[in-house]
Amino acid sequence: MEYTITLIPGDGIGPEVTEAAARVVKAAGVSVRWERVEAGASAIPKHGTTLPDAVLESITRNRVALKGPLTTPIGAGFASVNVALRKALDLYVSLRPVRSLPGIKTRHSGVDLVIVRENTEGLYSGREHSVTPGVVECLRIITRRASERIARFAFDYARHEGRRKVTLLHKASIMKMSDGLFLETCHRVSRQYPFVECQEMLIDNAAMQLVLDPSRFDLLLMENLFGDLISDLCAGLVGGLGVVPGANIGDQCAVFEAVHGSAPDIAGRGVANPTALVLSAALMLRHMGEREAAAAIVSAVDRVLAKGAQVTADLGGRATTAGMTEAIIDSLGAPVESAVS
Ligand code: NAI
Repeated sequence: MEYTITLIPGDGIGPEVTEAAARVVKAAGVSVRWERVEAGASAIPKHGTTLPDAVLESITRNRVALKGPLTTPIGAGFASVNVALRKALDLYVSLRPVRSLPGIKTRHSGVDLVIVRENTEGLYSGREHSVTPGVVECLRIITRRASERIARFAFDYARHEGRRKVTLLHKASIMKMSDGLFLETCHRVSRQYPFVECQEMLIDNAAMQLVLDPSRFDLLLMENLFGDLISDLCAGLVGGLGVVPGANIGDQCAVFEAVHGSAPDIAGRGVANPTALVLSAALMLRHMGEREAAAAIVSAVDRVLAKGAQVTADLGGRATTAGMTEAIIDSLGAPVESAVS
């Protein structure tokens, strides 16, 4: 069968790494017709906006998108296009699996965590206003509905993916009502999943425990801003933003993307590390039920990283984006050709 998937090349290094990911998907034997749409800073000259309607229409139609990083222009009038996309499509889950990779030396080995972050409310949703000159109020909304659906996703994910323990990260010692509601709701959902252990930990303690011994965690569940911070901390445990995949998932559609940004400092030079986006594409295939192809891609990336001969400069190598991509494709045992038409 042939899938139709929305492809957002994005800004900066986005076109380079999305091309790499599309080539790897094709080489893994999954037939995809990529529907290309423009978003981010690169969409402004043609569409006058960072998020043209065609992007939302395409994702709504196809249900799945692979997205390069998007630059949000600095200055008035441009809200974060990533946040706008999540809101418009109600992508309430941020999913980020964080795993030690072969060949990448870090403080801890054997890190294998999943971060599930609520994507729609909390302080990160940026609801703030000036009460009076010199005083600004920022609202931290937590609702039972949003807490319940993110908890349900997390426990379902744990059950399907063989995760044994969910740790709820919170600060209910101080924010007794809002985080209290989050905790109470998550615990209520957890009772329907007796085979998955549910524990809770204060967010500040969790930050320290993660740095000391990440192996004590399995799946971490938390609200939006805590998730933003803990996600990057965990990326640092396995080699940084360049190697961590991610997904934003809703009930109707899902958008898969690397955690890193558009890296304007290296854009257009063909030296960007494609790993994070290739692994995001593998996550996408797993979401679509193409588990074999997804596993083959992950193994191929692992082999290339373990060898270390064909990796990009950020990992200490000298390979170009195309060179590393070809090494991944070779490792899959497939011929090298362009996949984006
Ligand atoms: P960044 O992640 O783009 O870059 C930080 C550093 O990491 C830079 O030195 C860059 O060269 C390096 N880097 C990032 N990805 C890399 C890769 N694949 N290979 C090799 N090196 C890599 O973060 P920054 O500079 O804060 O943001 C730049 C732009 O990206 C901003 O406009 C920001 O809004 C946007 N952004 C977009 C995101 C998204 O679309 N999901 C996420 C984060 C930032």
